Amino acid sequence: MLVTGGAGFIGANFVHHTVTRRSDFEVCVLDALTYAGDRDNLKEVAHDIRFVEGNVCDTELVDRLVADADVVIHFAAESHVDNSLRDPGPFVRSNIIGTYVVLEAVRRHGRRLHHISTDEVFGDLELDADDRFTEASAYNPSSPYSATKASSDMLVRAWVRSFEVAATLSNCANNYGPYQHPEKFVPRQVTHILQGRPPRLYGTGRNAREWTHVEDHNDAVHLILEKGRIGETYLIGSGCEVTNKAMVELILELMGEPVDRYEKVPDRPGHDLRYANDSSKLRNLLGWRPRHRHLGSGLATTIDWYRENEWWWKPRKEAAELRYSELGR
Ligand code: NAD
Ligand code: DAU
Repeated sequence: MLVTGGAGFIGANFVHHTVTRRSDFEVCVLDALTYAGDRDNLKEVAHDIRFVEGNVCDTELVDRLVADADVVIHFAAESHVDNSLRDPGPFVRSNIIGTYVVLEAVRRHGRRLHHISTDEVFGDLELDADDRFTEASAYNPSSPYSATKASSDMLVRAWVRSFEVAATLSNCANNYGPYQHPEKFVPRQVTHILQGRPPRLYGTGRNAREWTHVEDHNDAVHLILEKGRIGETYLIGSGCEVTNKAMVELILELMGEPVDRYEKVPDRPGHDLRYANDSSKLRNLLGWRPRHRHLGSGLATTIDWYRENEWWWKPRKEAAELRYSELGR
């Protein structure tokens, strides 16, 4: 199994999951080790995998690694919306060109591909409504990040239709869990509190997200790999939808702080209002059930992980906060 982006947050959790639960796979990770990827994230499984440092845009390297694999799980991408607003270039290169290079290699070698994507490709939903994205929702991305992920999905669909590439796709809601970069909402707030600083809430805090534990995302990916139909898309989401304000209050409460001890900061330009996925296709056809159905307990174990792994997040946080200070957020 070739795992692109396997040194990042979800990819590294996926590699841990695969190595510990699926001895039938030999795992090779291809990762460019950008600011978001680190071999530290794979330390515990370093002896069980092959690691190749390299870029998914490198046609020759990708061709060689795909030729050696039976199946490719494509996580590699630039993943942070705020960074895409500062500098979209790396997003266009890694997310669009990178996916094109992977697709051409799986086409040449006739390999099975699973493409990891996001619910952000559908744009956003109105606040205070109860509708959800489905697999049939129209693509309507808002940010450079989501536009490049939408492009990558379109390429995968076209390669399935035109070249009979054996690919499946999944679009997951917001993830949380260990090894998530402290630039992202949950680890940023948790590590702020651990440093005695108030969390930072963009705008009104009314924007809502559906939070899915990374282990549940990765269970779904294995299930799709095993039972999914070629050419199909599956939406993944826990059903745990909350406003950002409620999420900050929950984190503060779980960490024993007054729930109003947060700061409001200037909003993200073009900030998507609300995401929520209807994951009934995955639940009904493939039998997926999230293990972490209670946000409070999933968050509590995640907070413990950050409490115990300051060595991991501290240097990453310093660099991320420098980027945020330039944005005034
Ligand atoms: P991340 O930023 O933590 O990790 C991305 C990894 O990809 C890093 O290890 C990085 O070094 C690597 N990478 C980036 N560009 C590369 C390139 N050109 N060549 C090789 N490697 C490269 O991201 P994440 O949060 O783990 O997201 C992984 C995937 O899941 C992405 O495709 C993202 O769009 C998707 N996704 C993320 C979420 C979420 O909540 N984080 C939700 C749904 C979907
Ligand atoms: O929905 C899936 C997407 O979720 C993934 O495709 C992306 O890769 C992932 O980064 C995430 O995107 P978001 O933009 O939703 O996540 P982020 O963690 O950046 O922010 C979550 C929400 O919290 C969002 O409404 C912005 C807000 N926010 C974020 C930060 C970092 C704050 O209010 N304060 C903050 O400090």
